[in-house]
Amino acid sequence: MKVEPRAVARFETQVAVVTGGASGIGAAVARMFVGEGGAVVIADLNSDRLHAMTDELGERCVALDADMTVETDVERTVGTAFSKFGRLDVGFNVAGIGNVQRIVEMDRATWDNVLGANLTGVMLGMKYEARQLLAQGHGGAIVNVASLNSIVPMHMGSAYCATKAGVAMLSQCGALELGEAGIRVNTVSPGLTRTPLTQAGLAVDEIRDAYLERIPLGTVGEPEQIAAAAAFLASREASYVSGINLIVDGAWATTGYPDLRFMAERQAAR
Ligand SMILES: NC(=O)c1ccc[n+]([C@@H]2O[C@H](COP(=O)([O-])OP(=O)(O)OC[C@H]3O[C@@H](n4cnc5c(N)ncnc54)[C@H](O)[C@@H]3O)[C@@H](O)[C@H]2O)c1
Repeated sequence: MKVEPRAVARFETQVAVVTGGASGIGAAVARMFVGEGGAVVIADLNSDRLHAMTDELGERCVALDADMTVETDVERTVGTAFSKFGRLDVGFNVAGIGNVQRIVEMDRATWDNVLGANLTGVMLGMKYEARQLLAQGHGGAIVNVASLNSIVPMHMGSAYCATKAGVAMLSQCGALELGEAGIRVNTVSPGLTRTPLTQAGLAVDEIRDAYLERIPLGTVGEPEQIAAAAAFLASREASYVSGINLIVDGAWATTGYPDLRFMAERQAAR
């Protein structure tokens, strides 16, 4: 029997919310979801980029100017998925901000701001997405975006790293609480990825080279490579995967140990 290649459209008839969906990784997730047959509500603070996304993705993309730290905005975002498309299948909580500041110089307003955007925003997303999924009664998936910094600390990164470790733990708690309703909750943790968030740093040769030294695969990640991991976790292919933190970093996290190959070379030379 001849086996025909299968057209892959993993999200046909499905509906997702993508927070931070106007830019970078969130925009790549929205493109992938719509490209594979689904519809999305993207929520973001960047209204110019939101319009560009609706122009690009057409009627299967609804854009909302919404702040994920404001509970009524999050509720409105998830409510829009239901009112416009009649259901919700997946919540992608991607919105986040960067921050570099030493602990001894940390001002309270900055700390609160980073926690709000990166941790409280994800928790609120999960809360309303899970409520909608529970009300529908047919399970679903939540994918939270953390960072390599959920497991690797960074100089001047206390607030950022703490929020990302928090997101990974939030996902695990979600997996535990929501599993009996068939709702899977997972984390994707990107390493260095080429987006507007990292644009300025990557433009400085010294910074880019210092990063690349730590990446065995030898390249900066592209948003589509992170979106592919998020899409896998959202898809039926991952139907038995819940509570994991999937690190997508070009093997960066393997590089903590000193490189002792010179010892073997020395011994060989003896
Ligand atoms: N780019 C990287 O190297 C990298 C690495 C690890 C983790 N991440 C994480 O990936 C996620 C996406 O980052 P990105 O690189 O695509 O950055 P980005 O700046 O391109 O996109 C983030 C989007 O989130 C939106 N946003 C921020 N706060 C928001 C809020 N309160 N409400 C609604 N929208 C808000 C921004 O407006 C922006 O459009 C972030 O959580 C980031 O921490 C990025």
